[in-house]
Amino acid sequence: MRGAEVVARFDGPLVDVGSGGGAPGIPLAFAEPEREVVLLEAERRKCDFLERWAPANARVVWGRAEEQATDWAGVAVAKALAHPPTAVEWCLPLVREGGAVVLWVGPSVERARVAAVAARIAGELEDAPDGFLVVRKSGPTPEGFPRRVGVAKKRPLA
Ligand SMILES: C[S@@+](CC[C@H](N)C(=O)[O-])C[C@H]1O[C@@H](n2cnc3c(N)ncnc32)[C@H](O)[C@@H]1O
Repeated sequence: MRGAEVVARFDGPLVDVGSGGGAPGIPLAFAEPEREVVLLEAERRKCDFLERWAPANARVVWGRAEEQATDWAGVAVAKALAHPPTAVEWCLPLVREGGAVVLWVGPSVERARVAAVAARIAGELEDAPDGFLVVRKSGPTPEGFPRRVGVAKKRPLA
């Protein structure tokens, strides 16, 4: 799994935001059995499914990214969570300084837009292999973030 190599560059707890059916969080948890993994999912029904398949080092949390504690994860990953600018706004506040967001993305991703969003919330776009976006957390989450549920989608930062 190529994503495992990208993620392995960052230490600390991993959170899969919008884990759904467990991708990519469950394979990543199996790939690194010593790493603490959180499978974060907004839908209760999907959490029940995740509970059945999560390995010992993975914990399921039912909730929305915008409502979680901030600045604790070493790496936040997401696949098919939302448009990348929204996904970055949801994921980056969870990550501590020095950590990163790793998004699985398609070829049409608007890198400049993602970079502009990241710059508003203490993030910097880094080089990454095709199919991935890596945003490094360069400082603490700024005052006022995460914004209220629904706002990131309705009024994107860029
Ligand atoms: C299209 S699914 C993708 C699931 C999985 N990552 C995959 O690639 O198969 C998006 C998931 O994100 C969840 N989700 C959407 N917004 C969320 C949020 N703000 N916080 C946590 N989960 C969210 C949805 O409930 C849904 O299960």
